[in-house]
Amino acid sequence: MGFISDSLNRIQPSATIAISNKAMQLKAEGRDVIGLAAGEPDFDTPDNIKEAAIKAIRSGKTKYTPVDGIPELKKAICDKFKRENGLEYKPSQVSVGTGGKQVLFNALMATVNPGDEVIVPAPYWVSYPDIVMLAGGTPVFVEGKLENGFKLQASDLEKAITPKTKWLILNSPSNPSGAAYSRAELKALTDVLVKHPNVWVLSDDMYEHLVYDDFEFTTPAQVEPKLYDRTLTMNGVSKSYCMTGWRIGYGAGPEQLIKAMAKLQSQSTSNPSSIAQWAAVEALNGPQDFIASNNEVFKERRDLVVSMLNQASGLSCPTPEGAFYVYPSCLGCIGKTAPTGNVIRNDEDFVTELLASEGVAAVHGAAFGMSPFFRISYATATEVLEDACKRIQRFCGNLR
Ligand SMILES: Cc1ncc(COP(=O)(O)O)c(C=O)c1O
Repeated sequence: MGFISDSLNRIQPSATIAISNKAMQLKAEGRDVIGLAAGEPDFDTPDNIKEAAIKAIRSGKTKYTPVDGIPELKKAICDKFKRENGLEYKPSQVSVGTGGKQVLFNALMATVNPGDEVIVPAPYWVSYPDIVMLAGGTPVFVEGKLENGFKLQASDLEKAITPKTKWLILNSPSNPSGAAYSRAELKALTDVLVKHPNVWVLSDDMYEHLVYDDFEFTTPAQVEPKLYDRTLTMNGVSKSYCMTGWRIGYGAGPEQLIKAMAKLQSQSTSNPSSIAQWAAVEALNGPQDFIASNNEVFKERRDLVVSMLNQASGLSCPTPEGAFYVYPSCLGCIGKTAPTGNVIRNDEDFVTELLASEGVAAVHGAAFGMSPFFRISYATATEVLEDACKRIQRFCGNLR
């Protein structure tokens, strides 16, 4: 019998973190590497948010807080849901965790029993299947095809639901594809869910504010009020407010679930950082206009990257509605030979050879459950992106 637990042996380390670390290591060794693997905005946290944190430190807000969030932050979250999503939640229906990841982790660990199934549309954010497996559950993958803009179709959802289905995880806009569901597309899915009262919905709205071209964001509990009593609407300040390092995420849903999540958190990390919670109060209650100006930059970068990748031979890159990722297909490069003499058999080979030949770090689609694709994060300075896309074009052009 090994020392490491069976539950830990069921899961893999995060592929995106591994590739970002590899890119950083190569850079530290002096290699000319452009890292496009990390999922965080390059913009700094706005000053008013930093000041709120400094004020919190100076005024002694440096002690333990209630396990799942200070009342001021829970109120700011309730106000946000009302203001932006038309959703009414009481503070007792809100849970604050150390990042969105902990909120998801708590929700799944608190509810999934061995044998339970969780529907995970692919391509998916890397952590969903592993958290489900850690809890002893079975992720059930349903592919959102390229021709459907990487989105789950109602008929495929219907087919995937069994008596063992506990949750459907929906993530719009999506990491890794950037795809976002319109109200009508969400309604088609919620119509299926209404017929299956035992299936809960975990809506990961982390990229809510990062949508382009007048796309109107909606979330399942808003689209179908009948699902309100079995939906956890999850969000956080990491991406929209450029606060990835502060580690604040939150979720709102039925009290019974929120209490169970707090019980788990009380025996693991306890409260999220008191200082970061006060910063998040300011993020949610303070000025929001910087989000629109950041989005203008993100949209320009998205258009640049999509256009340049579509000019690379063998690549095909759809235009996503949101987030800061593109998910091009590299089908046209499979079977070709790289300058190193190695044959590109799959998307993992593609990103390995790209890093070796041109020093561009991207993440292979297999890590997100859908091949042959790769993910590029365009949350990087525009001139760096331009350079990276030129390198990708050169790499593809040199394949034989
Ligand atoms: C889809 C999605 N959900 C949740 C998270 C977790 O966010 P946080 O950094 O707040 O834990 C991420 C971060 O990459 C994400 O991409």
